[in-house]
Amino acid sequence: AICGVSGRQVFDSRANPTVAAQVRLRCGATGEAMVPSGASTGAFEARELRDGGEPFGGKGVTRAVSHVKGALAQALTGLDADDQLAVDRAMLDADGTESKSRLGANAILALSLASAKAAAAARELPLYRWLGGAAACTLPLPMMNILNGGAHAGNNLDVQEFMIVPVGAKRFSQAMEMGVAVYHSLGRLLRERGLSTAVGDEGGFAPDLPGDEEALALLCQAIEAAGYRPGQDLSIALDAAASEWSQGDGYRLPKRGQPFTPGELAEYWCGLCGRWPIVSLEDPLGENDFAGFAALTARLGGRVQIVGDDLFVTNPARLRQGIEVGAANAVLVKPNQIGTLSETAETVSLARQNGYRAILSHRSGETEDTSIADLAVGLSAGQIKTGAPARSERVCKYNRLLAIEEELGRRATLGRLGR
Ligand code: PGA
Ligand code: ZN
Repeated sequence: AICGVSGRQVFDSRANPTVAAQVRLRCGATGEAMVPSGASTGAFEARELRDGGEPFGGKGVTRAVSHVKGALAQALTGLDADDQLAVDRAMLDADGTESKSRLGANAILALSLASAKAAAAARELPLYRWLGGAAACTLPLPMMNILNGGAHAGNNLDVQEFMIVPVGAKRFSQAMEMGVAVYHSLGRLLRERGLSTAVGDEGGFAPDLPGDEEALALLCQAIEAAGYRPGQDLSIALDAAASEWSQGDGYRLPKRGQPFTPGELAEYWCGLCGRWPIVSLEDPLGENDFAGFAALTARLGGRVQIVGDDLFVTNPARLRQGIEVGAANAVLVKPNQIGTLSETAETVSLARQNGYRAILSHRSGETEDTSIADLAVGLSAGQIKTGAPARSERVCKYNRLLAIEEELGRRATLGRLGR
């Protein structure tokens, strides 16, 4: 049973405050978790509680931390940490709002994860094993964000993430080897051309480039220069984060200023996917456009993974709405978009039951917490995106997966893009 709960304000990879929480059980086992934070957040996400006012540009989390130690500690004390649903329900009841805005989704998620880790520790099990049992032996196929734009970088690229996917890898460790090789070869190409090798929020390079076609060509050249075949060994995934582009009934690229009608934007993606080895396209349209998503999925979904991030916000109700209309064929899974572990797991199983793929994901503001690596394996998501294979708040997740792969030994398999 839970007998001690504590919390503190710590800092994320963007120098902003975030919540750390600890849970202690009567048997002596403990669990600790830290929560991440997004920049291109969806309008329908659960709410982080921030202090406002002067310090930290209003982003302090001392009120959220005081709820961890106060109302939430009171709700959890005496509960059995083995019963994740009861733990999460107690916090939802204590909060009482749909959006978790009263006590804060940041406070609630930190405790939800810390409680699960304490329960796992009490059994002397790693978190993935506690969550998924002996059947949890699929390592996620990584999508590595090696070129940053949008809200994550100060360059001129409007597409937020250009990722590489080592589709030809047989093992997770081989996927990492391929990813780091291409990361280095992209760095070399940029240096040779006198372009910036400074990086964005997720560790990918963030040079100014003439346009998306040039960015995609550069990625293919980097793949080839590393000795791999674009489209066979490594393919490309994009996250447009197009909710950030919405203007009136249409879109306007925030950096280049170019306007698009919804129809023109859909055409644009079809063109790019026809010319380049793109296997996954996330948030190609705005977060309210279920019908536009459905039309694009009908056109491209047979050969491209269409991923809803801001569209679904890891919310089972929004995912259900999307499934009804065929809005996508994959869901991005960010635990802090919904705020509890059990609702996160519900979203993943709902996806699986309906033939949607699930991709565990970091946020652009991260910490050294590696929970999402264990979640990816424990919930058998099959895919993960956690940034470039550089910068330790990104790499710690990949390193955790390398440890899990080693622990699973010959039972370990690697997720695939297809069903
Ligand atoms: P965010 O970006 O964490 O800034 O929301 C990640 C994403 O859009 O996938
Ligand atoms: Zn996204």
